[in-house]
Amino acid sequence: MIDIHCHVLPEMDDGSQSLEESLDMCAAAERNGISDIIATPHLKNGEHLEHFIERRDAALHRLNSALESAGIDVTVHAGAEVFARSWLEQARELSPFTLCSSRYMLIEFGFFGSESERIEKYVRLLQSRGITPIIAHPERYDYFLCDPELLEYTGSLGTLFQCNATSLAGVNGEQVRRLATDMVTAGFADFIATDAHSCVHRTTNLMNMIRDFSSEIDDTDVELLCGKHPRYILEDMPFPSRKRGYLAE
Ligand SMILES: [Fe+2]
Repeated sequence: MIDIHCHVLPEMDDGSQSLEESLDMCAAAERNGISDIIATPHLKNGEHLEHFIERRDAALHRLNSALESAGIDVTVHAGAEVFARSWLEQARELSPFTLCSSRYMLIEFGFFGSESERIEKYVRLLQSRGITPIIAHPERYDYFLCDPELLEYTGSLGTLFQCNATSLAGVNGEQVRRLATDMVTAGFADFIATDAHSCVHRTTNLMNMIRDFSSEIDDTDVELLCGKHPRYILEDMPFPSRKRGYLAE
C-alpha cells in the first residue's frame, strides 16, 4: 500500500517532532503493509516557499538515510499539504509542491465557513497550470457535511478526493464516517490515506483502522484506494476516468 498523506517528516509541522518519532511511524507503516509514504507537511499561506523546500528536502534526505540504516523497508517521497490561498496565484513554480513532482497536488481548505467560491477558483487555477487537485479529507469539512451536493459539484470540476482512514474508522464521529463511507461506495473517494501525525494520535496503523471500516467497504475498495490509485501519482500517470454515483439524497 502507498500512503499519500502523512506528516512523517521530523520537525516540519505539527506532525513528527523528532527523527526517532519519524522512524517509529515508518516502522509501524511497514508492519501495516505500507511500502511508500508521500510526506505532506503543511504548507501555509505566507510561508517562505524556498525555505519550505530546503527544510523539507533536508528532512526527507535525513529520514530516508536513517530508514536505510535502520533496515526499515519504506521509501518516503516529497510532497506537501497545500493550504489553497492567494500565494498560489503568485507562485511561479508549483511543481515543488506537488506529490512526488507529479501532476497531482494535495490541497486543503478551511474546515468551516464559506469556502465554495474559493474552492472553485483554486481548482480552476491549478487546472489551468496543468495540475490535478486532490482535496484532502473533504469528509471533515463542515460545508460538505451539510451540503453533499456541493461535494458532487466540486467533483464535477475534475477534482479528486482523498478520505482519511480515521474518518472511515469512525474516529471523527458517525456523521463524518457516514459521508466518508458514502464517498467510497459511490465512487467519490479516489484515495484513502492515514494523515498520520505521530505514533499515538492519528497514526500509520492503517490495518487497525481498516478493521474498523464499515462492512460496506470491501478489500477491493481498499486495494484500489490505497494501492492502485496512489500508483498513478508515484508514476505520474493520467488518472483513469471514473463513474461516480450520487451523495445527496
Ligand atoms: Fe494532513
